[in-house]
Order: sequence, then C-alpha cells, then structure tokens
Amino acid sequence: ATTLPYPRAGIAKAAALKVNEPKAFNYPDDDSFCQMLRLGAPVPGGVGPDGDIVAFSTQCTHMGCPLSYDKQARTFKCGCHFSIFDPEMHGQMVDGQATENLPRILLEHDPSDDTLYAVAVEGLIYGRQCNVL
Ligand code: FES
Repeated sequence: ATTLPYPRAGIAKAAALKVNEPKAFNYPDDDSFCQMLRLGAPVPGGVGPDGDIVAFSTQCTHMGCPLSYDKQARTFKCGCHFSIFDPEMHGQMVDGQATENLPRILLEHDPSDDTLYAVAVEGLIYGRQCNVL
C-alpha cells in the first residue's frame, strides 16, 4: 500500500494562543477533529517559543465520541464512557474504556513568523485504517 504524505497546514500563530484555551482545527482533512492547546509550561512533545504547545485528535479512541477539554482538570474527557486523556503526557489515556492514547498531531513552529504548522499524525485516528485517506 502507498502511504500518502501528510499536508503541511498552518493552524495558528503561537502568540495568539491563550494558555489553557483550546483551539479547534481539522487535520489532516475536514473530517478529522483536533484541538491545539498551549499549556503554559514546557511539556513532552511541546513546541513553540515556550515548548508548551501540543495538539491532539479529539475523537475518542474508544468509539469515536467527541472529547471536550476540562480546563480545571487540564484533561480531555469523553462524555460517552468517561475516558480521560492527559495533554501534558503525550495524550496518555489515564482512565476509562479506551485502550489507546490520543493520536498526537505533530507540530512545527516557524520562528520567522510565529506560525504553528500541523505536519503529521502519530497514532491512528479513530475509525480509520490510515490517517491520510
Ligand atoms: Fe469515549 Fe467510549 S467513546 S469512552
């Protein structure tokens, strides 16, 4: 099988992201829902000037329900069967029915104009056999 290359998609300016306020986007195509998050302190896999920006697929890895970000707990939560994922730990599943971590959207930051680009996905987006269709 041929694996198609991922698109390189400009998502946001790092300076425009507010700490702990997720920004929704779609990647690698319109049918795949994601959120970008600036956490306010460096985290594993974080990019940007402060190493604190990460992004994930926000379709639950259990059965694909949409996740919502809980600002207080700083986790992504699934309302269907209560799985919880930690954006400060690579999207690790910390509780619930899911068995896979959240797919990570790999980011690059261009310091020349402060743009954050989505460049690839690590992990399989729910319901897909291949991330790039
Ligand atoms: Fe999210 Fe079941 S679909 S826990």
